[in-house]
Amino acid sequence: MANTDSLENMDGLEVTACERCPELCESRSRIVNGVGPDDAAVLFLGEAPGAQEDEEGEPFVGRSGDVLTEELRNVGLDRETVRITNCVRCRPPDNRNPRKEELANCREYLEREIDLVDPEVIVTLGKVPAEHLLDRSVAVTKETGNVEEVRIAGEPRRVMLCLHPAATLYDRSQREPFEETLAEAASLAGVRGDGGESGQSRLGDF
Ligand code: URA
Repeated sequence: MANTDSLENMDGLEVTACERCPELCESRSRIVNGVGPDDAAVLFLGEAPGAQEDEEGEPFVGRSGDVLTEELRNVGLDRETVRITNCVRCRPPDNRNPRKEELANCREYLEREIDLVDPEVIVTLGKVPAEHLLDRSVAVTKETGNVEEVRIAGEPRRVMLCLHPAATLYDRSQREPFEETLAEAASLAGVRGDGGESGQSRLGDF
């Protein structure tokens, strides 16, 4: 593990208190930590909590979350078996994108989470998390499914670029590439539900 220094406002994977971003402290109802097993093979990374996530205290529980959950199921993965988190843990006002300094303020928490979970693959959902991890501009629609090795907190990590699930709500034709990317991520991580190593069965679908 690269970064085992204690972070005083983290308890394990959870940020328990933080006042680093004055505007986000105003706009949030709560800190939205990641969910899912602390040893998940696949870690999904979104941008920041939206209204519903802020209300419920869980990432991807709104309409985008419904798409993610459904498409995970379609590729044989149960949402409960993957880790889902965001670059920024507090809801930005009016759902604006997180600012550079907010991403930087939250980076340490994300790095700690990645370090502890130690996933086989990190799947970035949309442009903001892709650019945050890759530190370059990303054309997500073109690059979805691409895998790059990136050093995060000193460790080499496999990052797979993926569309944001909301993109599939605006443009239904994006559903197929979105689902294909999830299937590739599952198989890269060795957890493909339908015939892979996880032992998850789809028989219940029939
Ligand atoms: N979009 C995100 O990027 N993150 C969430 O948690 C929900 C929607």
